[in-house]
Amino acid sequence: MKIDTQVTVRPARNVRGSVQLPGDKSISHRYAMLAGIADGPSRLENYSTGADCASTLGCMRALGVAWERKENLIEVQGRGLSLAAPSLPLDCGNSGSTMRMLSGIVAGQPFTSEMTGDESLSRRPMERVIRPLSAMGAKIESQQGKPPLRIAGGNLKAIDYKMPVASAQVKSCLLFAGLFADGETRIEEPLRTRDHTEVALRVFGVHLDRKSAGQGSEVRIRGAQRLHGIEARIPGDLSSAAFFLCAAGLFPGSQLAIPNLLMNPTRARLLEILMQMGLRIAVTQLEEINGELVGSLQVEGGALKGGKIAGADSAALIDEIPVLAAIAPFTPEGLEVRDARELRVKESDRISAVATNLRRMGAQVEEFEDGLKIPGGQAVHGAEIDSQSDHRIAMAFAIAALRAEGETVIHGAEAAAISYPAFFQTLEKVVER
Ligand code: S3P
Repeated sequence: MKIDTQVTVRPARNVRGSVQLPGDKSISHRYAMLAGIADGPSRLENYSTGADCASTLGCMRALGVAWERKENLIEVQGRGLSLAAPSLPLDCGNSGSTMRMLSGIVAGQPFTSEMTGDESLSRRPMERVIRPLSAMGAKIESQQGKPPLRIAGGNLKAIDYKMPVASAQVKSCLLFAGLFADGETRIEEPLRTRDHTEVALRVFGVHLDRKSAGQGSEVRIRGAQRLHGIEARIPGDLSSAAFFLCAAGLFPGSQLAIPNLLMNPTRARLLEILMQMGLRIAVTQLEEINGELVGSLQVEGGALKGGKIAGADSAALIDEIPVLAAIAPFTPEGLEVRDARELRVKESDRISAVATNLRRMGAQVEEFEDGLKIPGGQAVHGAEIDSQSDHRIAMAFAIAALRAEGETVIHGAEAAAISYPAFFQTLEKVVER
């Protein structure tokens, strides 16, 4: 049974203080998977506190990987490239990243694995990994391209694959499968997506070749390479920071410090866009840790002016679009989002979820198949918000609520725990009323 937790958010005057974010979700998933197939132990500090990354750890345990959690430190005993056949289905929970990326690893194992997920994950498209993994030699059964998946792995052969959809999860799945394949796998992505897998593979000792190709990139990896364990501190999650950055952009008097934030260039487009829209961000202590850029931010509020997100920007900002859209009515120019059809197949149909909830707040919204147009300068009132069990929708509307007239009730607020369990407490700490 699902418990609906409601959180009431009251309007605010400002945001001020310091926000220490949980470890980046994308990097946490990748490190946990790679640490599991490495030779020897790994220590992962500041591992994501989100339920999604716990799903990945649960699946790794079911595949015979021993690990221990001491708060946000995870110690993993890698078992090398050979995992153990799971005795139960691998429960990926709400996590598309777990199912898609891990499918590349289990496809390389000489046994059969079943992968299941919750109601939301069971509606999400998996042909994007089924097709190329099948071409590599895996035998995969699904429910018309949706979970649960039954993957009979082993004896993979390398492929040369041009991805039809820009997806970091699919790219990662195939790079992982490429580690178990005979020969060299070549993957081409049409637009540049987050490159944490490429960066992490090198940190774990894998050799790969990368180059840019048009607006996207090409990666090549040879099979049968061994990985070594690592000691790492995972930088703060940039997509979680987006909520606080947007809150600061609603109130010119805001001042926020965000230490140890991930600033990987394939993720940091958000910071550039927010700065173009009027937020003042100073970066101090920029350093590279395990191939990932990490910085500390000093943010001074501004009044975000709005604008348009389309093309390659939509792929680069895919997880941050819900919050940018939720605050768009408060900006003078509003926001137009196009080329973001992928938002319809996330944890919820995020285009429809944003439009529905903005309308509940009294805002005008135009909805397109691939995006939204939200006029600026609108008066918006508090409302009953339905998160649709989607973490980013719950958090996005908690930010919009800070500028609405009257109180907003977020139904299904517990969804925030998928990526950021402490979100509402942290928000209350930095909000001034
Ligand atoms: C992710 C990639 C993106 C993103 C998701 C995390 C990743 O998904 O939306 O939250 O860690 O690789 P797609 O690869 O489906 O675009």
